[in-house]
Amino acid sequence: MAHPRLYSGMQPSSGSLHLGNYIGALQQWRRLQEDHDAFFSIVDLHAITVPQSPQVLREQVRTLAAQYIAGGIDPDRSCLYVQSHVAAHAQLAWLLSTITGFGEASRMTQFKDKTAKGGQEAASVGLFTYPILMAADILLYDAEIVPVGDDQKQHVELTRDLGERFNKRFGATFTIPKPRILADGARIYDLQIPQSKMSKSADNDKGVIWLLDEPAKTAKKIRSAVTDTDGAIRADRAEKPGVTNLLDIMSAVTGTSVADLEAHFDGQGYGVFKTEVADAVVAELAPVRERTLELLADPAELDRLLAVNADRARAVADATLTRALEAMGLR
Ligand code: TYM
Repeated sequence: MAHPRLYSGMQPSSGSLHLGNYIGALQQWRRLQEDHDAFFSIVDLHAITVPQSPQVLREQVRTLAAQYIAGGIDPDRSCLYVQSHVAAHAQLAWLLSTITGFGEASRMTQFKDKTAKGGQEAASVGLFTYPILMAADILLYDAEIVPVGDDQKQHVELTRDLGERFNKRFGATFTIPKPRILADGARIYDLQIPQSKMSKSADNDKGVIWLLDEPAKTAKKIRSAVTDTDGAIRADRAEKPGVTNLLDIMSAVTGTSVADLEAHFDGQGYGVFKTEVADAVVAELAPVRERTLELLADPAELDRLLAVNADRARAVADATLTRALEAMGLR
């Protein structure tokens, strides 16, 4: 029997993934690709919804491809490609925008969060319609499962709504996907402000662990993580957000449950705790960083892989787009 289809993607909007992207997405992708027919995209069309330098963006696309592979995505088995190489994404997004309500799009919390600082007047229309493009990504590949961190759940719900609406109005065309969100580690928090999610756009770099940071820097950031004065090493999101975040991180990178970690650290101080978390994170990330740097030494090979996989993606996406065009009376 064919494996279920899976789709996910990340933005090439910084020079490195952070630990939230790694735990919330890449780590799960690596496991899921074993028994799924997986498509993993580098969503450059999403990245340009905020200003990007063309030169830098070009490099960041390659750097992200290298991090996917170094993080365990096998580009021969899974289809690892760049969104803008497949024209059908932008085309289907247009079709879907015509069945999306303005009010419905206005309710997307990520748009509200992203425009909280600069104001909606300064935002591009593309940032506003971003979730519709994401719906197009997912629906084009008939994905059943979409593994993401919990900040993307609302976008996957919109994708389901749009897919169902389209099918109802124009006849069965799309597969309706489900989000797949980890129970623990679906949200990794900033090390300095453990109430906010770890994010590319954090004001203070000390709160963010970058995959491509030097190991010594990573360890230092973890040792300086904000905790509390209570001294107990136990998970309690409301009362002990910093300690809880470190427990979640250690659990995700070691595969040991939070309960077992609490037992392991019983009676220990925060110094020992942070040092062990730092060692575990470095042990996980250092090889990924090294492999990324090796892959980046051969950009032509990365470009070749991305071109081959864009052909594979295009074959699937174009067939779905044709179905949608026909259903709407455009063919
Ligand atoms: P992006 O690039 O912002 O994030 C990539 C993935 O990382 C997860 N993530 C986190 N997980 C845990 N803790 C955090 N602090 C954290 N920060 C980010 C995100 O949930 C995401 O899974 N819109 C998407 C990209 C996208 C996409 C798609 C995803 C475009 N098309 C189709 C799935 C399917 C995004 O902005 O991801």
